[in-house]
Amino acid sequence: MLYQKGVKHMYDNGIEHVPSKYILPAAERPNVNSEKNASPDELNLNLPIIDFAELQGPNRAQVLKSLAYACENYGFFQLVNHGIPEEIINNMVNVSKSFFEMPFSEREKYMSADMSSPVRYGTSFNQTNDGVFCWRDFLKLVCHPLSDVLPHWPSSPFDFRQLVVSYAKETKLLFMLLVEAILESLGLKNREKKTEGVNDDDDDDILKELEDDGSQLMVMNCYPPCPQPDLTLGMPPHSDYGFLTLLLQDQVKGLQIQHEHNWVTVQPIPGSFVVNVGDHLEIFSNGRYKSVLHRVLVNSTNYRISVASLHSLPFTSTVRPSDKLITETNPRRYKDTDFASFLDYIKSCDSKKKNFLESRK
Ligand code: SIN
Ligand code: FE2
Repeated sequence: MLYQKGVKHMYDNGIEHVPSKYILPAAERPNVNSEKNASPDELNLNLPIIDFAELQGPNRAQVLKSLAYACENYGFFQLVNHGIPEEIINNMVNVSKSFFEMPFSEREKYMSADMSSPVRYGTSFNQTNDGVFCWRDFLKLVCHPLSDVLPHWPSSPFDFRQLVVSYAKETKLLFMLLVEAILESLGLKNREKKTEGVNDDDDDDILKELEDDGSQLMVMNCYPPCPQPDLTLGMPPHSDYGFLTLLLQDQVKGLQIQHEHNWVTVQPIPGSFVVNVGDHLEIFSNGRYKSVLHRVLVNSTNYRISVASLHSLPFTSTVRPSDKLITETNPRRYKDTDFASFLDYIKSCDSKKKNFLESRK
């Protein structure tokens, strides 16, 4: 089947119509907006912007308030001045493009249905289960522990491993600094109070768990131009399972988030990250921070590349709300959950994947 080879292959072969396998039922097509009947392009969203350099400076308290506001009301923010060198960012986008530009015979070597494989090339969302396919090819790389997984990663393009490793290390460091800020914004950890002897043990535990054994998954996404973009999606509505996702998108818009019952397009800011709250953080914060549904639109003219670095608690951990965020007025809202129940959920879903948390309530 042509579609099993993915959308890049179809695009390279000059496909002029979207095959029926990709055509969504009318109600799920992108031009149908949940409340207003607006075309997707009419609803653009300027996400809250967090200046990372400012967060690390004397204005931290103020920036932490903006961070809390963004995580509560949008589940997303754009991170600027993050300090990762431009060269490392550009190399990551370029090497992803180069990977997808390689002949299909080269990419195909990494195709696998095994969800636990350290490297997995594929198409759609969940190629084995999806009733309707989506217009995306992807490469997923497990990044932890690096020394174990690295020999499995693609060795071409020739500098692929080296460039992805530099990028993965930088994003992990940035993620850890963001987690520290997020704990502080939840009132759980306070750099100043620490010196006054406040007990932060639980919060230190989660930081340590994330730092030492937390999982990092790098997902490179390729969305070639699509001849009939109104009939399909690059990614179906979903939330991210982990703690935080750091997304790099090129200048081609496509990402939409659900905000106040509408699908709104996130405007790319060159060199920034789009950061979103994942299911783990929603649970940990006992519902204060939201893991928000998002999806990807495709278009008929521009090739789009994005790279998502997904950071989660170790697969062996149980995720539960922080004790300090359960109070009489805000009782526990989530059951404990673990990776096995997430996998069960994933196995049962097709391209209609929505929100893992919704499915557990
Ligand atoms: C994702 O949701 O993981 C990818 C989003 C994008 O490609 O913009
Ligand atoms: Fe996502």
